[in-house]
Amino acid sequence: MKTLLIVYHSLTGGTRQMAESAAAGAATEPGTRTRLQTAQDTTPEDVLAADGYIFATPENLAAISGQMKDFFDRCYYPCLDHLNARPYAALICAGSDGQNALRQLTRITTGWRLKQVADPIITLTHAQTPESILSPKTISAPALSRCTETGAALATGLALGIF
Ligand SMILES: Cc1cc2nc3c(=O)[nH]c(=O)nc-3n(C[C@H](O)[C@H](O)[C@H](O)COP(=O)(O)O)c2cc1C
Repeated sequence: MKTLLIVYHSLTGGTRQMAESAAAGAATEPGTRTRLQTAQDTTPEDVLAADGYIFATPENLAAISGQMKDFFDRCYYPCLDHLNARPYAALICAGSDGQNALRQLTRITTGWRLKQVADPIITLTHAQTPESILSPKTISAPALSRCTETGAALATGLALGIF
């Protein structure tokens, strides 16, 4: 059975909801095992053992979040050359932008020679003030359903071997 690994970090809950929705979509495919893990808990062995990936990160200070960066820092070289052509998708939660986090993530996945198989999703919370930025987030149902569809597409593609 193929394994889809969903790695995420979330400070105020938005990215977590996106990752959980992707996992719920993936779980509808019985032919793929789905693992939803925080960046902090994910090891190079977890990455090597999976067949496809969804990386979900906030954009913080025009970059992927520190814990996602730490995950990639720890896993990049142990996994380099072992992941070539495996499929992945990216989920970004941002206040107003998200493009730099996506660009940075794409550079890392290009280095790993992963294959992007779904359009990246950037969800904007439109939080602008310090108070709203630091408040718990509720992501809209339409935005979450896009994440669910991406999770289902990755899991189905893995099960069918079409990537
Ligand atoms: C320290 C910090 C820096 C941030 N920097 C950015 C940024 O550069 N661009 C942006 O669009 N949003 C930025 N945000 C807003 C977050 O991306 C937004 O609140 C999002 O909901 C975070 O995802 P999370 O709820 O999973 O933590 C920042 C938030 C924090 C706490």
